[in-house]
Amino acid sequence: MPILIKNIKELLQVRETNVTKLSGSEMATLPLLKNAWLLLDEDKIKGFGTMDSCPEGTDAEEIDATGKTVLPAWCDSHTHLVYAGNREQEFVDRINGLSYEEIANRGGGILNSAKRLNATAEDELYEQSRLRLEEVMRMGTGAIEIKSGYGLTVDGELKMLRVIKRLRENYPVAIKATFLGAHAFPIEYKENHSTYIDIIIDEMLPAIAREDLADYIDAFCETGYFSVEETERIMEAGSMYGLPGKIHVNQFTAIGGIAACVKYNAISVDHLEIVTDADIEALKGSITMPVALPTCSFFISIPYTPARQLLNAGLPLAIATDYNPGTTPSGNMNLVVATACIKMKLTPEEAINAATINGAYAMGLFDTHGSITVGKTANIIITKPVNSFYELPYSFGTNLIDKVIISGILVK
Ligand code: NIG
Ligand code: FE
Repeated sequence: MPILIKNIKELLQVRETNVTKLSGSEMATLPLLKNAWLLLDEDKIKGFGTMDSCPEGTDAEEIDATGKTVLPAWCDSHTHLVYAGNREQEFVDRINGLSYEEIANRGGGILNSAKRLNATAEDELYEQSRLRLEEVMRMGTGAIEIKSGYGLTVDGELKMLRVIKRLRENYPVAIKATFLGAHAFPIEYKENHSTYIDIIIDEMLPAIAREDLADYIDAFCETGYFSVEETERIMEAGSMYGLPGKIHVNQFTAIGGIAACVKYNAISVDHLEIVTDADIEALKGSITMPVALPTCSFFISIPYTPARQLLNAGLPLAIATDYNPGTTPSGNMNLVVATACIKMKLTPEEAINAATINGAYAMGLFDTHGSITVGKTANIIITKPVNSFYELPYSFGTNLIDKVIISGILVK
């Protein structure tokens, strides 16, 4: 049944003609209509305008949005939402002084999650993951990327990707799957990297391609994880299967990975807590979207991505949650937007652009998601009454969401 939302105080991110992505100073503008209406027909946006042109006598179900803001649902382009169990002990260890690196070197971190994941049955993994997905949908996420990377075995990686596929089949939210076999080296390959990379390329990738389980390929390009050369091998292999790179890079150190990703036309480079002038130069004029993960910086107390430096260089920026059990056990995009404003000094306009249209770009969904544009998917957030949309990041601990509609369906 069509839905007509009337008397909207502010309808945000209205784009008469679609944009692919927003860069540099373009991000400062968030187009909006005041006193507006929005018509959703089944799973698509059918029309919008100001109340003086509101359609009458339609058979649509009407929602009165007096005092409320309406905006496109969040586009969370970087998550590890499929995982088994939590790592709250490591959280306490970090409070007591251990670093993320020290915990990983003791067999904690990614390898800890891999051990649990491989010991968890697929159905149980699906159950745990669907609860997380349902929670983020209620918090306004309408499109999401989910990675593998806690299997690190052929069976484990396939299990994760099959769970992602099942989530996609069972929920209205748009889901992109990323293969992250190159997340860490299993203990037995610590001194023999090339053998593990051979397994990724010769065993995991063909099996994943056979079942069509992935859209992108990822690697953790970082000191102590995958070198730039190893990451290039992974991207090269991914390209053989039509999987563009979407790469973890520059989280702790800058080792030249960004230029390599640009060379391989990666769709995004994610983290970027540490950025050099050479990294910025490499990104200029590329198709690669920089993605910042501010709640990861918050949770493990590492630097924030220097957003202003990227925007001043004319680059685009997306923001995402990084939802995972180690560095960001939260899938809350509202908190990501607030943290981007508070800690990275993005304006609310820039942060919302980064979390909608640019997030959609970072998962290849700019044609269908991320803005209020006729023909796009009916994915929207209706807030509670607010003074203005500035209240969304300002009241950072308050749930200001009244309703979420994903693919035309009201999220319960
Ligand atoms: O994006 N940095 C690499 N991967 C994840 C963390 C993985 C984990 O600790 O489980 C991240 O932060
Ligand atoms: Fe991540």
